[in-house]
Amino acid sequence: MKIAPSILSADFANLREDIIKVQEGGADWIHVDSMDGHFVPNLTFGSIVVKAIRPHTHLPIDCHLMVENPDYFIQEFAEAGADYISIHLESTPHVQRALQLIKSFNVKAGIVINPATPVSLLEDIIHMVDLVLVMTVNPGYGGQSFIYETLSKIKTLDTWKKEKGCDFLIEVDGGINTTTIKQCAEAGADVFVAGSYVFNSSNPEERIESLKKAVRDSA
Ligand code: DX5
Ligand code: ZN
Repeated sequence: MKIAPSILSADFANLREDIIKVQEGGADWIHVDSMDGHFVPNLTFGSIVVKAIRPHTHLPIDCHLMVENPDYFIQEFAEAGADYISIHLESTPHVQRALQLIKSFNVKAGIVINPATPVSLLEDIIHMVDLVLVMTVNPGYGGQSFIYETLSKIKTLDTWKKEKGCDFLIEVDGGINTTTIKQCAEAGADVFVAGSYVFNSSNPEERIESLKKAVRDSA
């Protein structure tokens, strides 16, 4: 089980302090949401933020690219220090090319699907990826409500891991709290992104622990 706080909900004026706080509070990865205002209706930041935070954490940096033409940005995220780079299936017609480009920089490659995208579309590329991120909200903003129809996709991916002998992590992102994390864990998810639940609190450490406890209780 890995908890990946999303810095989208952190205090950008105190980003280093917030990252150290969640790292000391038991976070396993740092999740970075890059949005371009085209693929999603919101604009955040690019690789410059990964470069800035890289010296301040030993945790893996998990980059979620919500951008059109992700190929344009892969090299700069890799050079900035990303450990995982995930691209949306819906964002490029050349998915294999983009995944190969990520791997060419010795970075782990992830594929992301929106809530309305069927998991069957991943069948031909599943052997290439280190991670599948199942969006449990429509990407663009923190603080949205979990979409329950996505749970069956997690279950299908978990079955594929066993049946096809593939080795990838299943990550969920959006609307994660102590209730929804339990359902995702029971469905087979391994990595849990949480933004507002962790950071919209005076005690992010306690929030991380309560998420971990919810997963342990589901086992
Ligand atoms: C949504 C982002 C998420 C977001 C999650 O577009 O990909 O990572 O920060 O936020 P919460 O946990 O608040 O739903
Ligand atoms: Zn994300």
